[in-house]
Amino acid sequence: MDSTGASHRTHTCGQLRSSDIGQTVTIAGWVDSTRRHGDGLIFVDVRDRYGITQLVLDAEDCPPDQLKLADRLRGEDVVRATGAVRKRDGGANPRLETGEIEVVTQSLELLNRADNPPFFPTDKDSLPNEELRLRHRYLDLRRPRMQRILETRHRVAQIMRRYLDARQFVEVETPNLCKSTPEGARDFLVPARLHPGEFYALPQSPQIFKQILMIAGLDRYFQIARCFRDEDPRADRQAEFSQLDIEMAFIKREDITDLISGLFRAIWKETLNVDLPEIPLMSYAEAMNRFGSDRPDTRFGLELQDATPVCTKTDFRVFTGAIEAGGVVKAIRVPHGGTTITRKQIDGYTEFVKQFGAGGMPYVKLENGAFVTGVAKFVEPIREDLIAALGLEDGDLVFFAADKAKTAHRVLGELRLRLAKDLNMLPPHGKAWNFLWVVDFPLLDYDEEGKRWDSLHHPFTAPKPEFVSLLETDPAGAISDAYDLVLNGSEVAGGSIRIHSQDVQAKIFNLLGMDDEQAKLKFGFLLDALKYGAPPHGGIAVGLDRLVMHICGTDNIRDVIAFPKTQTGADLMSDAPSTVDLAQLKELNVAVTIPEPATTS
Ligand code: AMO
Repeated sequence: MDSTGASHRTHTCGQLRSSDIGQTVTIAGWVDSTRRHGDGLIFVDVRDRYGITQLVLDAEDCPPDQLKLADRLRGEDVVRATGAVRKRDGGANPRLETGEIEVVTQSLELLNRADNPPFFPTDKDSLPNEELRLRHRYLDLRRPRMQRILETRHRVAQIMRRYLDARQFVEVETPNLCKSTPEGARDFLVPARLHPGEFYALPQSPQIFKQILMIAGLDRYFQIARCFRDEDPRADRQAEFSQLDIEMAFIKREDITDLISGLFRAIWKETLNVDLPEIPLMSYAEAMNRFGSDRPDTRFGLELQDATPVCTKTDFRVFTGAIEAGGVVKAIRVPHGGTTITRKQIDGYTEFVKQFGAGGMPYVKLENGAFVTGVAKFVEPIREDLIAALGLEDGDLVFFAADKAKTAHRVLGELRLRLAKDLNMLPPHGKAWNFLWVVDFPLLDYDEEGKRWDSLHHPFTAPKPEFVSLLETDPAGAISDAYDLVLNGSEVAGGSIRIHSQDVQAKIFNLLGMDDEQAKLKFGFLLDALKYGAPPHGGIAVGLDRLVMHICGTDNIRDVIAFPKTQTGADLMSDAPSTVDLAQLKELNVAVTIPEPATTS
């Protein structure tokens, strides 16, 4: 034990070994369990973050009041014990690191009583439901698994700091009360007491500040930043989350991808002892074409194939109609799917893909050299061509999507993931680390509903130099210098080379539907700063929570955040959000209107 806590204890509960036999020690912690053997012998397992140590209280060498106290102990009571370390009587316990020894307790002290808890942190038989765990997060965080996760998160953050410090990066904190920074989500707003009627926004990311730090000459910046986005939480998304945020001046894409690839290699080596290979690049176009996603999961096959050329030869209207409208026919071949996937499952998939815009989902099986079921009769005339084009074998099942390329990709991309899950094609945690840099994204995306252009990343992303002229003539064709790092189908980092010319930035704001006046109102400070000598620069942000999820093998983001919010954005332990005093609202010049609950007559 170091000096921390030395006044209370000499050792932690995970520290004592055979080499300590004979020493008198003091340990402190939570009662994990007690066992009584007859009248005069009590075993108490005491637990802390470091492990579990067994105490023995024996009527023969322990005062009666101590024995009585031990007898009254309950799980989660906080105790301190002093005694001699001896070889464990009755043989070592191989499941405990301290399993070779026990502490023959001469003095036992109850430091604090615990009420009977709603659940026991080390109850091996049942993990309480998440609501109960979040409500009593202090008990939940006593669970060894949660403590290992928080330690891993800490370790990752330390590796990041060390790695970047060694490369001349400067850690700079940027404000949390600021002007809106667009990352595509709704802002959280904070009323400004000193400016009645005005609001700060919580940052969706430190994006503009880090660019301004480059203009300020910082050259290399990083920050482990908290970001706030008022969007519905999901399994890998929280409204409040953390990023490793980075920005560099005078660099090209390769500088960032090399830096981050090196960082991930360092993290994987130190936390998992895994040597990561080089991380390959894939263009956005290839990712969409082959996987129907800009964050392809390459751990399994089921790739999308293009059946468009072959399908022009049928007179099946579903196919030809889509092609004539400028769309595509794409297909997924499921090897042996003809036998492993039932009709009921196929109906389920047809229903499933509707939410992604599919009107229906044609499918067919190849059986004894002939197409059967689904749209068999329509594709029979092109059987040979289709078999050759898709590499079909007897027993295969084929799903089609005939639509605009964007919809067809989305539909089959989602179906592909669902199939992989249902067919158990995903390797267990730790068996595959499929990293991929996705590059060359389109700069803009046309929002059909709003009839306007949106940035695919954010409005500060630079078009590749050779595409700047397209901004005037064909914005849809402009490719950006953005890059995402994908791991096993999840986006763990995203960034871009930025616009450093005031003219180009102003043009992008115009394309996004802002006139000069609006652009000045929202981003005047950035446009101003760009006028005073902005260096070429670029950066990236790594999702810290998601990264720790991958390392720890959980698909629930709440497991890697000490005090997370539920699906409805609530902190169940502190009961936030909550109503506030009228006086407080008045001081902030805020009036609250609450919609009347719907009445039933
Ligand atoms: P982006 O919005 O892609 O980029 O975010 C970067 C990374 O942060 C993680 N992430 C999230 N994690 C948990 N919950 C969320 N709600 C959430 N949203 C994003 C993802 C993602 O890859 N300013 C840019 C970065 C830049 O251009 O430098 C940005 O924030 O892992």
